[in-house]
Amino acid sequence: MRSTAPPSEPAVERFEPRAVRALARMFDDVSGRYDLLNSILSLGQDGAWRAAMWRAVPEEAGTCLDLCTGSGASLRGLLRPGRRVLGMDASLRMLERAAGTYGDSGWAPRLACADAFHLPLRDRALDVVTIAFGVRNLRPRSRALEELARVLKPGGVLAVLEAVAPRRGALAGLHGFYLRHLVPLAGRLSDDPSAYRYLSESIFEFGDGASFERDLAAAGFAVELSRSFLFGATGLWAARLTRRPPAAPAGEIQAGSPNRLQVARPVDGRRRRFPQPAPEGELEWRAWTAAQLGFAIALVVALAWALAVLLKLGADLPIESWQRRGLGFLLVAGLTGFAARALVLGLRLQGKAPRR
Ligand SMILES: C[S@@+](CC[C@H](N)C(=O)[O-])C[C@H]1O[C@@H](n2cnc3c(N)ncnc32)[C@H](O)[C@@H]1O
Repeated sequence: MRSTAPPSEPAVERFEPRAVRALARMFDDVSGRYDLLNSILSLGQDGAWRAAMWRAVPEEAGTCLDLCTGSGASLRGLLRPGRRVLGMDASLRMLERAAGTYGDSGWAPRLACADAFHLPLRDRALDVVTIAFGVRNLRPRSRALEELARVLKPGGVLAVLEAVAPRRGALAGLHGFYLRHLVPLAGRLSDDPSAYRYLSESIFEFGDGASFERDLAAAGFAVELSRSFLFGATGLWAARLTRRPPAAPAGEIQAGSPNRLQVARPVDGRRRRFPQPAPEGELEWRAWTAAQLGFAIALVVALAWALAVLLKLGADLPIESWQRRGLGFLLVAGLTGFAARALVLGLRLQGKAPRR
């Protein structure tokens, strides 16, 4: 049921260890416009980032869990004929959206409301776990990684996409401004603006990914792939479980159920279209690169127009002078960044598609 309580301020409880209830309530409240805001805040790039995460999943993986699946945006690319795909999340409202998207046919992902710290899975049940923009919410992270090491087979893969805090470098100021001011501003479109302040603060808390890599190593994962997107604003890691973590101390209750997973089959026995792997050909690569180029050019035009308006009307705008300077800096940096991006994409389109 939707929470009728006003959004909690200052919502310190969301940062507490295992604050699964507080976080589930928060995501229940923002579920209505979550996907829209996600696209806005990622400048429309989250689809490409998820595609990179899916590519880190071995084709032969038989059972995959998308943890913190939310509205299920990261499930589609995991679907394959014969593969068991599970989506788990603590927020029922988010899961309802995922259920609305995928339905319940035989090949649809199996969705379950579950806490990442107590997954309803037997030991070594999974070949792959993916987590997109969720790991930052799991505190303490070391305990969550232990649970993932429990449910993954040895040699299993964990692929994680996460928003990261500014690293040192030319764009750190711009990135910090974006997280501190623009993310909470965009959050005003949401039913719970405080959730977007939490988003911003939790990204700073997550850091630049270095401590995450240390936690991965401590939990027995070897990082095999590490990439960053949008000038370092988002990270992707793929890590393989190389050793079992130490056993839980005596007295600690072990999570998980001994039940085996069931093969997903249509209950009515009717034939369904099998999910197909995303086409990986050159055509798809060219179409996607061209779409990104179009998007980058549109942004360059929009930012140039906004800059022209700022230069013309700047003094009349009802904002402080530091805000005007910040905005000007942001527009120039964005313009330069996206012009460079458009150039790179244009050059890429001239060349050959990369081998994968
Ligand atoms: C930022 S959303 C990401 C949703 C989705 N993966 C995406 O990329 O759009 C984070 C999700 O993590 C879920 N979450 C937070 N803590 C959790 C926990 N302890 N167990 C399971 N899910 C959790 C929230 O309910 C929320 O749906």
